[in-house]
Amino acid sequence: MIQKPRGTLDLLPESTPLWRKVEQACFAVSRRFGYEEIRVPTFERSELYHRSVGEGTDVVQKETYDFSDKDGRAITLRPEGTAGVSRAVIENSLYAGVMPLKLSYLLSCFRYELPQAGRSREFYQFGVECFGAARSACDAEVILLADGIFKELGLSPRLEINSIGCPECRARYLEALKEYFSACRDQLCETCRGRLEKNALRILDCKNESCKAISKDAPLITDYLCADCKTQFDEVKELLDAQNLVYTVNPRIVRGLDYYRGLVFEFIDESIGAQSTLCGGGRYDGLIRSLDGPDLPGIGFAMGLTRIILCLEQKGEPVPAQKPDLYLASTDPESAKAAFTLAQALRERGLCATSDLVGRSVKSQMKYADKSGAGYVIVLGDEELQTKRARLRSLRDGTEQVVDIEDPDALKKRIQEGN
Ligand code: HAM
Repeated sequence: MIQKPRGTLDLLPESTPLWRKVEQACFAVSRRFGYEEIRVPTFERSELYHRSVGEGTDVVQKETYDFSDKDGRAITLRPEGTAGVSRAVIENSLYAGVMPLKLSYLLSCFRYELPQAGRSREFYQFGVECFGAARSACDAEVILLADGIFKELGLSPRLEINSIGCPECRARYLEALKEYFSACRDQLCETCRGRLEKNALRILDCKNESCKAISKDAPLITDYLCADCKTQFDEVKELLDAQNLVYTVNPRIVRGLDYYRGLVFEFIDESIGAQSTLCGGGRYDGLIRSLDGPDLPGIGFAMGLTRIILCLEQKGEPVPAQKPDLYLASTDPESAKAAFTLAQALRERGLCATSDLVGRSVKSQMKYADKSGAGYVIVLGDEELQTKRARLRSLRDGTEQVVDIEDPDALKKRIQEGN
């Protein structure tokens, strides 16, 4: 038997209604903030991720799915959404329209990571990106949007924020980091020894245990912020305070992607285990420029839907019901045809109606109706076809009422009244 590749997920009908509910909540809340949906390709030229996510990141160095297409082009399955959305903004000149440009998306992403609860190789992200607004009001609004989605879903993860500074203050910080890590060079993993020269910030994000232990006492970015970065960060905090949003400043958050600068944030819920970051985001003002676009500031976040679903399941969130309204049983081929036609008439009126497609006996059809969770059943036979009347039986309480089988509008009304 061929099994699914390691680290991929089959989302089965028993859970998809919950996924849909989460996705709808994400889009509904982002809509209230003025975001519009964008869809971008599943794969892009590899260079896009090298230049945005960064050559030195774990994501690009170890986790991307790369291949050459039949024309020998270097292609990568998207490991995240920001790079592709930014490319689309540039390529389609979306920056020439109304600013700020507010985009939301729902994507599958691919990262070759060690699979565990809440971490898979194909996973789903809902994200937003806001281009063209550099002010702290935009930073605060994006955080409020993520928080709004969690509230809508009845979740309350912890919010942690940090500023990782602009290129100027970062340069001084990187020097300090380099000095610190050089002293314990031998204890770093091989990848991080390479990072020491190229971008010591990435060492803080390494998943190797020894690197993690050394990183604990590394210098903090907050001690190196320039006056402008500090002011902007203070303003964001003030705005969040004014909205009574609870957060902590965690100077250890650096995020695992190179394009960030200034504000970064994460929403965390440890109740789902080690992979506890439900949402991560931040500002990336140099990204569009670095991809040969205009000088356009940007900020956004992405939330991992698998992790959100885990949280909801843990809370005992019921999966929204998806049961047929009516099952139309039949006793012979003639009434089967009538059942088929009546089912279709009811579907055209917006109900979920099913009839026998496999030639079961009436007894098996009734068992099937029960199992399917149908709200009502009608059995059509000779007598019903002749009198044009049948008994509509509620499978919830067993009550029955006589209905006209040639009046699907009236039948629909009866079924809806009983729901
Ligand atoms: P990220 O932190 O790499 O950021 O991923 C965002 C979220 O995706 C994580 O917080 C987590 O919930 C989920 N996630 C990441 N990897 C996996 C995985 N292997 N399995 C399951 N879930 C996962 C980004 O991707 C940025 N593009 C976010 C962003 C948008 N920043 C600005 N705009």
